[in-house]
Amino acid sequence: MISKVLRTIFLIFICFCSFSCSPHRNQFTIWIGGSPQEIDYWQHVVDRFNRSTGSDLQLIRQPTYTDQRKQNLVVSLVARQKDPDLFLMDVVWINQFARSGWLAPLDSFSVADTLNDNVFFPSVVNSVDRIDSTLFALPVFLDVALLYYRTDLLRKYGYENPPETWDELTSMAETIQEGERKRNAGFNGFVWQGAQYEGLVCSFLEFIASHNGSLSKEGIFNAQSEYNADALQFMQNLIHRWKISPLSTFTEMKEEEVRRSFQSGNALFERNWTYAWNLHQQDNSAVKGKVGICLLPHFKNGKSVSTMGGWHIGISKYSDRKKQAEAFIAFVTSFTEQKSMLMQVGWNPARQDLYTDSALLVQIPRLSILREALLNAVARPSLPYYGQISEIIQRNVNDCLAGKATAGEALKKIQEESETIQSMYGAQ
Ligand code: GLC
Repeated sequence: MISKVLRTIFLIFICFCSFSCSPHRNQFTIWIGGSPQEIDYWQHVVDRFNRSTGSDLQLIRQPTYTDQRKQNLVVSLVARQKDPDLFLMDVVWINQFARSGWLAPLDSFSVADTLNDNVFFPSVVNSVDRIDSTLFALPVFLDVALLYYRTDLLRKYGYENPPETWDELTSMAETIQEGERKRNAGFNGFVWQGAQYEGLVCSFLEFIASHNGSLSKEGIFNAQSEYNADALQFMQNLIHRWKISPLSTFTEMKEEEVRRSFQSGNALFERNWTYAWNLHQQDNSAVKGKVGICLLPHFKNGKSVSTMGGWHIGISKYSDRKKQAEAFIAFVTSFTEQKSMLMQVGWNPARQDLYTDSALLVQIPRLSILREALLNAVARPSLPYYGQISEIIQRNVNDCLAGKATAGEALKKIQEESETIQSMYGAQ
């Protein structure tokens, strides 16, 4: 009798434990990284979603930079883990993720219907989010790079307008850097992303494209053009010849290092994505109220070009909460949330209707610059093996910036190594 009672108590205890110790039935997760301020913003979005839908979505913080964020995700996707249910993807990962079978097709979800209204830019969705006509992701925000400049310093040294060409930028930066270094030895003319990581591929593409260069000729990978060599040489010159960009450009400079250097008052020009604008205007920023933005400069024969960046959202094929995950996608792509992203963190909205909203254009005049940069953006190749091509570009361009290779040598290696990768994948 006593043993029967004990057995019953034991069973009740086990049931209680498995009920209370197992994760909440409705809990699901989203993995997001970025700068600390960006992640804080995402926490607010998730909180708003949970409050308005009664859901239990948990935000799991990822590292700041794109390369580490990808590694982090790939480990869990390869292991077919149920978590994360949802994640943000850099625009250049989607092809690989879809072809590896890690993404749940979105066509069967009602959120895909919103596309009928051309809510997003069709050119973006069709070239990035749809792979072989299946929809695997939707854009959350589109990134473009801009030139941030110090309005007060341009005025102080007698310049009326920001530079339009790279030559103008160099000459303004040399003059102002020389003057400013008398009171601040750590002042630099131009800070930009030159460390060995994905951001360097973005900078490199912008320099070559603003000189009419490109990585492909008639559809075939072609790194070794004269324009590309000139543009890469110019990047090296910024650091070693004109010395307007610090040596740390090729060792440390990623988005946040660049932003902090400019924001603390130690640089005249900055290349960065749109998120930097709002941070520069914070109360603790040394450059609050002294910053202008314009399109990136170009070479004399070229035009301003930004690399197309941005983050898209997808659902893991291994998620067991796909319906709830879909509700979050509908939420973040709604007009209200997209507007809040633009206002609070300064990201380019993925929805087209925000760019033509007359009230918003008055409130945020820079929206028209963002749109212009978007329309002239250059895409990185959409390839399942993009990660390997990117690594080759990063390493060789960085060698050139470090002075370990000439522009010609670096481009030759990029060409040869990329051809080897392409032949492994049976591509031209
Ligand atoms: C930004 C862009 C992304 C790019 C990355 C490079 O996050 O949105 O597309 O790959 O910067 O660092």
